[in-house]
Amino acid sequence: MPTEAASIAHTILTEQVIGVLRTVYDPELPVNIYDLGLVYDIQVEPQSGKVHIRMTLTAPGCPVAQTFPGTVECSVRELPEVNEACVELVWDPPWDRTRMSEAARLTLGMLDAGDLPRPDTTSVASVAGALRNRDSNDLESTRSDWVNVAAQDDLPDGGVSVVDVNGTEVAVFNIGGHYYAIEDVCTHDGGTLAEGEVEEFEIECPRHGARFDLRTGRVTAPPAYEAVTTFPVRIHDNRVQVREARDDSIRTNKPP
Ligand code: FES
Repeated sequence: MPTEAASIAHTILTEQVIGVLRTVYDPELPVNIYDLGLVYDIQVEPQSGKVHIRMTLTAPGCPVAQTFPGTVECSVRELPEVNEACVELVWDPPWDRTRMSEAARLTLGMLDAGDLPRPDTTSVASVAGALRNRDSNDLESTRSDWVNVAAQDDLPDGGVSVVDVNGTEVAVFNIGGHYYAIEDVCTHDGGTLAEGEVEEFEIECPRHGARFDLRTGRVTAPPAYEAVTTFPVRIHDNRVQVREARDDSIRTNKPP
């Protein structure tokens, strides 16, 4: 049975270790590892000065997986009360975004997708696609070809279809009769987004839970940090079509 003094010492050292962990930042995200929820367990022994930490990273493919535990150990050993620090890297349970503190969510600007306008009832192109297309009166362009995705009837509301567009896997979604296309590769660690769950205009990567706005490709939840590419979509002759617009050369007819 620990004495009250021993219990207080245990609490103080635990808090000190947490304080240090809050100064160590995730290799990929601008949030410390404690608030990001990467730390699963902290065991301290105030008398011997031993600390044992179980933690994970946002993805097993993280390039610093080999070296990061050592970085954390060095930081914890900086505490005068600590004689020995050991960091155990684990992958079970896998990290997901529900482990983040509110402070972490705030830092990462996890905004509600509802702050973006809904498309009008006649548009079939995503917001990003419409921006790329611009006004055809002002632009002269060399455009890539439209690629058939599916017959309109074969891509019902709530459906998704994946098509190869010039070597890029593109996932096309029908949401309430509006069509959105994104590259079918999560920018976090290559997960297949087409298999993710869609909630209103957001898709969740099935691998680690990053979320993207299908209308713009914007990240709405980590661990992804970069937007996913979007593509223009149209309905032509009752067929859903998508186009790889990134290589289009466009020049304006207006004088500079
Ligand atoms: S691959 Fe990690 S969140 Fe998508």
